[in-house]
Amino acid sequence: MNATPSSVTPQPVDATFLEDVLAGLSAPEKHLHPKYFYDALGSQLFDRICELPEYYLTRTELAIMAQHGKDMGRALGSNVLLVEPGSGSSVKIRLLLDAMEKPAGYVPVEICQEHLEASASALQRDYPGLDIRPVCADFTRPFPVPRVRTIPRCNLVYFPGSTLGNFAPPQAEELLANLHRVAGPGGGLLLGVDLRKDPGVLKPAYDDAQGVTAAFNLNLLTRINRELGADFSTDDFCHQAVWNDTESRVEMHLVSRCRQQVRVAGRVFRLEKDEPIVTEYSYKYSRRGLADFAERTGFTVERCWTDPKEWFSVQLLRVAG
Ligand code: AVI
Repeated sequence: MNATPSSVTPQPVDATFLEDVLAGLSAPEKHLHPKYFYDALGSQLFDRICELPEYYLTRTELAIMAQHGKDMGRALGSNVLLVEPGSGSSVKIRLLLDAMEKPAGYVPVEICQEHLEASASALQRDYPGLDIRPVCADFTRPFPVPRVRTIPRCNLVYFPGSTLGNFAPPQAEELLANLHRVAGPGGGLLLGVDLRKDPGVLKPAYDDAQGVTAAFNLNLLTRINRELGADFSTDDFCHQAVWNDTESRVEMHLVSRCRQQVRVAGRVFRLEKDEPIVTEYSYKYSRRGLADFAERTGFTVERCWTDPKEWFSVQLLRVAG
């Protein structure tokens, strides 16, 4: 039994922050990568977003897990090794662990070592018999799956929260192909997927009345100022959420309020008035679209659990035999 699970660190992280920012601001359509939202304040703001009345995603997914957990547990079976990319605080996994019969172990995969070790220790206290093997890694790149004490019947990758939606289709396909390798023969992927719906519901979810999402978006500029020596004035940008129906995605922008120039690590970038910097895409899938996508990456949809309004889904994809 592990009192404090120790983690495996296969690669340095965040070494490319400056490179990514310079490349994004030099592109004809300026953009910044959403993975950089999550510094300490960004993570706190995201936790607040998850509790906003307009942000239905977390609430709805948790309700699906609570209502259908037992059925999920039965569908997954016993002696399964759970692997969770981007495990964060390892909160949702508890619902799954409570529903499953004797999991072979749990591998949380998280980029922030401190966060990883703190949440693995907290989980170990609550599940003393669970074999926990944390891995500190960027899950968008191949990562190792450590051995556990018991030989598992198969691997089950748990990827909740509609995080897949933050990847444009080519990257999402690459990610699913990577997770397919982790799942391996007979394995599966339990995926939280936000579904297409009325833009009247979608837009406020990304532009809430209290301005928490706006603060989350603008904090990215504050982080760049602090960590990369830039001089963004956050007052000169405003948060915008746009529904792009053709691409089936919500887009988050930081829009320049005026003609201005900004310095990042000694390089100057010019912005016109009303010019956007794209900071995030959040794709919304139809059930058919997700099934096609799964098939292209070597999975088949075995089960799909939704809420009564069909706003969100938790889908079990199986590695096609
Ligand atoms: C993490 N991800 C699934 C969130 C989403 O809904 O796309 C990130 C987010 N951005 C703004 N609000 C929440």
